[in-house]
Amino acid sequence: MTVHSFKEVMANYPTGVTVVTTFDGKNEPIGLTVNSFASVSVDPLLVLWSIGKESSNYKTFQEVDRFTINILAHHQKEIALLFANREQTEVRFQKCDWYQSEHQVPVLENVAAALQCKLYKRIDAGDHLVLIGEVIDITHEDVLPLLYHQRKMGEFPTSF
Ligand SMILES: Cc1cc2nc3c(=O)[nH]c(=O)nc-3n(C[C@H](O)[C@H](O)[C@H](O)COP(=O)(O)O)c2cc1C
Repeated sequence: MTVHSFKEVMANYPTGVTVVTTFDGKNEPIGLTVNSFASVSVDPLLVLWSIGKESSNYKTFQEVDRFTINILAHHQKEIALLFANREQTEVRFQKCDWYQSEHQVPVLENVAAALQCKLYKRIDAGDHLVLIGEVIDITHEDVLPLLYHQRKMGEFPTSF
């Protein structure tokens, strides 16, 4: 068993692509591209995702009590790349459309769906921190999602 084979197996497991957003302690919007998102529970409505401890946003997510899971639409590959690019950390929110919700979290415009969450539990897990959120608001559009597989992003294959 190796880290290499683990990574190969996970790379062959397709996912959607999300951007998780929140406000930091200085009330600046921050966010990063995330595919570790999963649903957990219906009663109460719970979802989870995890953040690597190497992320420049790790410290913020150790402290915040609200965040938004923005599920990207098929045409939002550029947004996914922007929020995964370390050199663009400071300018991410200048390069996309977003608004501050009534729950005081940033929400990206034109996404397939946005789940606004309040923190339910944080779990320290190896080199990542797992955040479980309780969904407090949902918006969604009738649009196909962006997909991630084998380290590439794209749309649903037409044969699907
Ligand atoms: C498709 C994709 C999925 C990602 N999923 C995660 C994730 O679930 N958790 C995480 O911490 N980083 C994930 N990353 C990496 C972060 O997006 C990236 O390291 C981060 O945005 C770098 O900037 P930061 O230091 O400002 O966070 C993912 C990147 C991509 C391209």
